[in-house]
Amino acid sequence: MEVVIVPDAKAGGELIAEAMAALVRRKPDALLGVATGSTPLPVYEALAAKVRGGEVDASRARICQLDEYVGLPAGHPESYRAVVLREVVEPLGLSEASFMGPDGSAEDIVAACEAYDRALAEAGGVDLQLLGIGTDGHIGFNEPCSSLASRTRIKTLTEQTRVDNARFFDDDMEQVPHHVITQGIGTILDARHLVLLATGEGKAEAVAQTVEGPLSALVPASALQLHGHATVVVDEAAASKL
Ligand code: GLP
Repeated sequence: MEVVIVPDAKAGGELIAEAMAALVRRKPDALLGVATGSTPLPVYEALAAKVRGGEVDASRARICQLDEYVGLPAGHPESYRAVVLREVVEPLGLSEASFMGPDGSAEDIVAACEAYDRALAEAGGVDLQLLGIGTDGHIGFNEPCSSLASRTRIKTLTEQTRVDNARFFDDDMEQVPHHVITQGIGTILDARHLVLLATGEGKAEAVAQTVEGPLSALVPASALQLHGHATVVVDEAAASKL
């Protein structure tokens, strides 16, 4: 695992956007796995700026989603599908056809999970998966105690994660879904390159446990220790407990 400490979130965004751009220059139809949450936004802004500025032609790139809420009404602005379309797909000038994600409103959620796991493999696998990290060390929505070999499946959110994400739902806990679909840890580990970005002091403990703690299902992000090509990009605040 390589750990890169950058001065701030903007620098982290620029660094990762350049890695994505370099990948797309090498492999124009690369499958880029993206994460939601606030942390990766500087990456998407920097990458979109490179596309607009002609530094990279991303017109053949493909985007896939890491996780999704279950049961939000169709078109809900905080469904991760809507977020990824808004924050990544549209700014990059891509169409919905270049995007894939799990169906959180499917009648048969188990089948939808299996279908998405299969679809990722059939698309040739994820070339670069960007990850954030939860304050409890989760990646995607793989909460502590998730099997390190898990595949895409339905999970129940912990109270902590629902509290952390309530800001996207008018701080109204009633509106925060309890269930989600997430790529499993085994699914995430199938990606060719994992890039985890963490910024701010609130992530310092989770980062320290991910990088320097034991491999443990209690800290799902520690599974990155199993991957042959994992990069952890942290700002100085998130690195403060290393
Ligand atoms: C959610 C997402 C994760 C993300 C995490 C942290 O739980 N499912 O993929 O990493 O939030 O979000 P933030 O970057 O806003 O702290």
